[in-house]
Amino acid sequence: MVNVSFRKVTKRYENGFTAVNELNLEINEGEFLVLLGPSGCGKSTTLRMLAGLEDVTEGDISIGGARVNDLPPGARGIGMVFQSYALYPHMSISDNLSFGLRMQKGEERMSDEEINKLIIETSSMLGLSSELDKKPKQLSGGQRQRVALGRALIKRPKVLLMDEPLSNLDAELRQQMRVEIRRLHDELGMTTVYVTHDQIEAMTLADRIAVLNEGELQQHAPPMDVYRNPSNPFIEGFLCDHLNDIVETANSLFGEEE
Ligand SMILES: Nc1ncnc2c1ncn2[C@@H]1O[C@H](COP(=O)(O)OP(=O)(O)O)[C@@H](O)[C@H]1O
Ligand SMILES: [Mg+2]
Repeated sequence: MVNVSFRKVTKRYENGFTAVNELNLEINEGEFLVLLGPSGCGKSTTLRMLAGLEDVTEGDISIGGARVNDLPPGARGIGMVFQSYALYPHMSISDNLSFGLRMQKGEERMSDEEINKLIIETSSMLGLSSELDKKPKQLSGGQRQRVALGRALIKRPKVLLMDEPLSNLDAELRQQMRVEIRRLHDELGMTTVYVTHDQIEAMTLADRIAVLNEGELQQHAPPMDVYRNPSNPFIEGFLCDHLNDIVETANSLFGEEE
Protein backbone atom coordinates (compact mmCIF):
# COMPACT_ATOMS: atom_id res chain seq x y z
CA MET A 1 0.00 0.00 0.00
CA VAL A 2 1.03 3.60 -0.47
CA ASN A 3 0.89 7.03 1.10
CA VAL A 4 -0.35 10.17 -0.65
CA SER A 5 1.04 13.64 -0.25
CA PHE A 6 -0.02 17.10 -1.33
CA ARG A 7 2.74 19.72 -1.09
CA LYS A 8 1.66 23.33 -1.49
CA VAL A 9 -0.90 22.29 -4.07
CA THR A 10 -2.83 25.12 -5.69
CA LYS A 11 -5.54 24.92 -8.33
CA ARG A 12 -6.40 28.04 -10.25
CA TYR A 13 -9.04 27.58 -12.92
CA GLU A 14 -8.74 29.27 -16.30
CA ASN A 15 -11.09 32.06 -15.21
CA GLY A 16 -8.55 32.96 -12.49
CA PHE A 17 -10.55 31.47 -9.59
CA THR A 18 -8.41 29.75 -6.95
CA ALA A 19 -10.34 26.64 -5.90
CA VAL A 20 -7.56 25.11 -3.77
CA ASN A 21 -4.87 27.22 -2.14
CA GLU A 22 -1.46 25.83 -1.07
CA LEU A 23 -2.81 22.58 0.29
CA ASN A 24 -0.39 20.56 2.41
CA LEU A 25 -1.76 17.15 3.34
CA GLU A 26 -0.09 13.83 4.17
CA ILE A 27 -2.26 10.73 3.98
CA ASN A 28 -0.77 7.59 5.51
CA GLU A 29 -0.62 4.15 3.94
CA GLY A 30 -3.90 2.34 4.49
CA GLU A 31 -5.51 5.38 6.07
CA PHE A 32 -9.18 6.28 5.58
CA LEU A 33 -9.11 10.05 5.08
CA VAL A 34 -12.31 12.06 4.74
CA LEU A 35 -12.18 15.43 3.00
CA LEU A 36 -15.02 17.37 4.61
CA GLY A 37 -16.39 20.80 3.84
CA PRO A 38 -19.38 22.74 2.50
CA SER A 39 -20.36 22.72 -1.14
CA GLY A 40 -17.90 24.68 -3.28
CA CYS A 41 -14.97 24.49 -0.83
CA GLY A 42 -12.70 22.59 -3.26
CA LYS A 43 -13.19 18.94 -2.29
CA SER A 44 -13.87 17.58 -5.78
CA THR A 45 -11.11 19.72 -7.25
CA THR A 46 -8.65 18.23 -4.76
CA LEU A 47 -9.77 14.67 -5.51
CA ARG A 48 -9.74 15.25 -9.27
CA MET A 49 -6.18 16.56 -9.14
CA LEU A 50 -5.16 13.43 -7.24
CA ALA A 51 -6.93 11.29 -9.83
CA GLY A 52 -5.28 13.13 -12.72
CA LEU A 53 -8.57 14.45 -14.08
CA GLU A 54 -7.56 18.05 -13.40
CA ASP A 55 -4.15 19.72 -13.83
CA VAL A 56 -2.25 20.97 -10.81
CA THR A 57 -1.45 24.69 -11.13
CA GLU A 58 1.32 24.76 -8.50
CA GLY A 59 2.83 22.29 -6.06
CA ASP A 60 3.33 18.54 -6.10
CA ILE A 61 1.18 15.50 -5.57
CA SER A 62 2.82 12.17 -4.92
CA ILE A 63 1.55 8.64 -4.51
CA GLY A 64 3.86 6.14 -2.84
CA GLY A 65 6.65 8.71 -2.88
CA ALA A 66 6.53 9.24 -6.66
CA ARG A 67 5.44 12.57 -8.09
CA VAL A 68 2.35 12.03 -10.24
CA ASN A 69 1.60 15.56 -11.52
CA ASP A 70 2.35 14.50 -15.09
CA LEU A 71 1.06 10.92 -14.99
CA PRO A 72 -2.19 10.09 -16.79
CA PRO A 73 -5.05 8.81 -14.58
CA GLY A 74 -4.62 5.20 -15.73
CA ALA A 75 -1.00 5.09 -14.56
CA ARG A 76 -1.66 6.25 -10.98
CA GLY A 77 -2.95 2.99 -9.45
CA ILE A 78 -6.19 4.57 -8.32
CA GLY A 79 -9.83 3.54 -8.43
CA MET A 80 -12.58 6.14 -8.35
CA VAL A 81 -16.26 6.14 -7.40
CA PHE A 82 -18.54 9.10 -8.14
CA GLN A 83 -21.95 10.16 -6.93
CA SER A 84 -23.56 9.19 -10.23
CA TYR A 85 -23.08 5.49 -10.89
CA ALA A 86 -22.46 6.00 -14.62
CA LEU A 87 -22.92 2.30 -15.42
CA TYR A 88 -23.24 1.14 -19.02
CA PRO A 89 -27.00 0.51 -19.34
CA HIS A 90 -26.83 -2.07 -22.14
CA MET A 91 -24.11 -4.19 -20.49
CA SER A 92 -24.58 -6.92 -17.89
CA ILE A 93 -23.31 -6.34 -14.35
CA SER A 94 -20.50 -8.76 -15.07
CA ASP A 95 -19.42 -6.74 -18.13
CA ASN A 96 -19.81 -3.46 -16.25
CA LEU A 97 -17.47 -4.76 -13.55
CA SER A 98 -14.85 -6.05 -15.96
CA PHE A 99 -15.01 -3.40 -18.69
CA GLY A 100 -11.91 -1.57 -17.45
CA LEU A 101 -9.92 -4.79 -17.23
CA ARG A 102 -10.93 -5.85 -20.73
CA MET A 103 -9.80 -2.47 -22.09
CA GLN A 104 -6.24 -2.89 -20.80
CA LYS A 105 -3.60 -3.18 -23.47
CA GLY A 106 -0.16 -4.72 -23.79
CA GLU A 107 1.52 -6.22 -20.74
CA GLU A 108 -1.34 -5.25 -18.44
CA ARG A 109 -3.82 -7.32 -20.40
CA MET A 110 -5.32 -10.22 -18.42
CA SER A 111 -6.56 -13.57 -19.62
CA ASP A 112 -10.31 -14.27 -19.60
CA GLU A 113 -9.67 -16.72 -16.79
CA GLU A 114 -7.96 -14.10 -14.62
CA ILE A 115 -10.71 -11.60 -15.35
CA ASN A 116 -13.43 -14.12 -14.46
CA LYS A 117 -11.71 -14.89 -11.19
CA LEU A 118 -11.67 -11.19 -10.30
CA ILE A 119 -15.34 -10.80 -11.27
CA ILE A 120 -16.26 -13.67 -8.96
CA GLU A 121 -14.15 -12.39 -6.06
CA THR A 122 -15.30 -8.81 -6.40
CA SER A 123 -19.00 -9.56 -6.83
CA SER A 124 -18.97 -11.88 -3.85
CA MET A 125 -17.26 -9.22 -1.71
CA LEU A 126 -20.11 -6.84 -2.60
CA GLY A 127 -23.02 -9.28 -2.37
CA LEU A 128 -23.60 -9.12 -6.12
CA SER A 129 -22.89 -12.76 -7.02
CA SER A 130 -26.44 -13.52 -8.09
CA GLU A 131 -26.84 -10.29 -10.09
CA LEU A 132 -24.04 -10.78 -12.61
CA ASP A 133 -26.24 -11.51 -15.63
CA LYS A 134 -28.68 -8.68 -14.96
CA LYS A 135 -28.63 -5.21 -16.51
CA PRO A 136 -28.20 -2.09 -14.32
CA LYS A 137 -31.87 -1.09 -14.59
CA GLN A 138 -32.88 -4.39 -12.95
CA LEU A 139 -30.93 -3.45 -9.80
CA SER A 140 -31.82 -1.18 -6.88
CA GLY A 141 -29.99 2.11 -6.33
CA GLY A 142 -27.89 0.56 -3.58
CA GLN A 143 -26.91 -2.38 -5.76
CA ARG A 144 -25.96 -0.06 -8.61
CA GLN A 145 -23.73 1.92 -6.32
CA ARG A 146 -22.12 -1.38 -5.25
CA VAL A 147 -21.42 -2.13 -8.91
CA ALA A 148 -19.76 1.27 -9.23
CA LEU A 149 -17.69 0.43 -6.16
CA GLY A 150 -16.89 -3.00 -7.58
CA ARG A 151 -15.73 -1.46 -10.83
CA ALA A 152 -13.22 0.63 -8.88
CA LEU A 153 -12.15 -2.26 -6.63
CA ILE A 154 -11.78 -4.95 -9.29
CA LYS A 155 -8.45 -3.44 -10.37
CA ARG A 156 -7.25 -3.71 -6.77
CA PRO A 157 -6.23 -0.05 -6.68
CA LYS A 158 -3.59 1.14 -4.25
CA VAL A 159 -5.66 4.25 -3.59
CA LEU A 160 -9.45 4.39 -3.62
CA LEU A 161 -11.08 7.78 -4.25
CA MET A 162 -14.75 8.42 -3.60
CA ASP A 163 -16.61 11.66 -4.31
CA GLU A 164 -19.91 11.87 -2.38
CA PRO A 165 -20.67 8.28 -3.41
CA LEU A 166 -23.78 7.90 -1.25
CA SER A 167 -25.55 11.19 -1.93
CA ASN A 168 -28.09 9.60 -4.29
CA LEU A 169 -29.18 6.95 -1.81
CA ASP A 170 -31.92 7.18 0.79
CA ALA A 171 -31.00 7.48 4.46
CA GLU A 172 -31.24 3.80 5.36
CA LEU A 173 -29.17 2.63 2.41
CA ARG A 174 -26.63 5.35 3.05
CA GLN A 175 -26.15 4.02 6.54
CA GLN A 176 -25.75 0.42 5.27
CA MET A 177 -23.31 1.41 2.55
CA ARG A 178 -21.27 3.48 5.00
CA VAL A 179 -20.70 0.39 7.12
CA GLU A 180 -19.91 -1.65 4.04
CA ILE A 181 -17.42 0.84 2.63
CA ARG A 182 -15.54 0.94 5.91
CA ARG A 183 -15.54 -2.89 6.08
CA LEU A 184 -14.16 -3.17 2.54
CA HIS A 185 -11.49 -0.64 3.33
CA ASP A 186 -10.46 -2.57 6.43
CA GLU A 187 -10.42 -5.89 4.55
CA LEU A 188 -8.54 -4.68 1.49
CA GLY A 189 -6.35 -2.16 3.29
CA MET A 190 -6.10 0.39 0.49
CA THR A 191 -5.45 4.05 1.21
CA THR A 192 -8.82 5.76 0.86
CA VAL A 193 -9.79 9.38 0.25
CA TYR A 194 -13.50 10.00 0.69
CA VAL A 195 -15.12 13.33 -0.12
CA THR A 196 -18.31 14.44 1.61
CA HIS A 197 -20.14 17.51 2.91
CA ASP A 198 -21.92 15.29 5.46
CA GLN A 199 -20.56 15.68 8.98
CA ILE A 200 -21.98 12.37 10.23
CA GLU A 201 -20.47 10.50 7.32
CA ALA A 202 -17.11 12.05 8.09
CA MET A 203 -17.31 11.32 11.82
CA THR A 204 -18.30 7.68 11.35
CA LEU A 205 -15.98 6.72 8.47
CA ALA A 206 -12.72 8.54 8.97
CA ASP A 207 -9.43 7.68 10.60
CA ARG A 208 -8.68 11.35 10.12
CA ILE A 209 -10.73 14.24 8.77
CA ALA A 210 -9.31 17.06 6.66
CA VAL A 211 -11.69 20.02 6.84
CA LEU A 212 -11.64 22.42 3.89
CA ASN A 213 -13.21 25.85 3.61
CA GLU A 214 -12.88 28.17 0.61
CA GLY A 215 -9.99 26.16 -0.79
CA GLU A 216 -7.99 26.24 2.46
CA LEU A 217 -7.25 23.36 4.82
CA GLN A 218 -8.66 24.23 8.26
CA GLN A 219 -7.76 21.21 10.38
CA HIS A 220 -6.51 17.67 9.88
CA ALA A 221 -6.98 15.24 12.77
CA PRO A 222 -8.97 12.22 14.01
CA PRO A 223 -12.74 12.93 14.11
CA MET A 224 -13.09 13.19 17.89
CA ASP A 225 -10.05 15.47 18.11
CA VAL A 226 -11.59 17.83 15.58
CA TYR A 227 -14.90 17.73 17.45
CA ARG A 228 -13.33 18.29 20.87
CA ASN A 229 -10.71 20.81 19.80
CA PRO A 230 -11.97 22.67 16.75
CA SER A 231 -9.15 24.87 15.49
CA ASN A 232 -11.32 27.83 14.51
CA PRO A 233 -14.86 29.30 14.52
CA PHE A 234 -15.61 27.89 11.07
CA ILE A 235 -15.18 24.31 12.32
CA GLU A 236 -17.13 25.08 15.48
CA GLY A 237 -20.07 26.17 13.35
CA PHE A 238 -19.82 23.68 10.52
CA LEU A 239 -18.99 20.58 12.54
CA CYS A 240 -19.47 20.98 16.29
CA ASP A 241 -22.68 23.03 16.34
CA HIS A 242 -24.15 20.84 13.63
CA LEU A 243 -23.43 17.63 15.55
CA ASN A 244 -24.66 19.16 18.82
CA ASP A 245 -27.92 20.11 17.09
CA ILE A 246 -28.40 16.51 15.96
CA VAL A 247 -27.79 15.22 19.47
CA GLU A 248 -30.20 17.78 20.93
CA THR A 249 -32.86 16.87 18.42
CA ALA A 250 -32.44 13.19 19.22
CA ASN A 251 -32.64 13.88 22.95
CA SER A 252 -35.78 15.95 22.60
CA LEU A 253 -37.37 13.27 20.40
CA PHE A 254 -36.63 10.37 22.71
CA GLY A 255 -36.60 12.24 25.99
CA GLU A 256 -33.57 12.21 28.22
CA GLU A 257 -35.07 9.83 30.78
CA GLU A 258 -32.70 7.14 31.98
N1 LIG B 1 -13.89 24.40 -14.32
C1 LIG B 1 -14.06 25.35 -13.38
N2 LIG B 1 -13.80 26.65 -13.66
C2 LIG B 1 -13.93 27.62 -12.71
N3 LIG B 1 -14.30 27.38 -11.44
C3 LIG B 1 -14.57 26.10 -11.10
C4 LIG B 1 -14.46 25.02 -12.04
N4 LIG B 1 -14.79 23.86 -11.40
C5 LIG B 1 -15.09 24.21 -10.14
N5 LIG B 1 -14.96 25.55 -9.96
C6 LIG B 1 -15.20 26.29 -8.71
O1 LIG B 1 -14.25 25.88 -7.76
C7 LIG B 1 -14.83 25.83 -6.46
C8 LIG B 1 -14.62 24.45 -5.87
O2 LIG B 1 -15.37 23.51 -6.63
P1 LIG B 1 -15.43 21.99 -6.19
O3 LIG B 1 -14.06 21.48 -6.01
O4 LIG B 1 -16.30 21.30 -7.18
O5 LIG B 1 -16.15 22.09 -4.77
P2 LIG B 1 -16.83 20.96 -3.86
O6 LIG B 1 -16.57 19.63 -4.47
O7 LIG B 1 -16.21 21.14 -2.52
O8 LIG B 1 -18.29 21.29 -3.82
C9 LIG B 1 -16.30 26.21 -6.62
O9 LIG B 1 -16.44 27.56 -6.30
C10 LIG B 1 -16.55 25.97 -8.10
O10 LIG B 1 -17.55 26.84 -8.57
MG1 LIG C 1 -17.91 18.18 -5.22
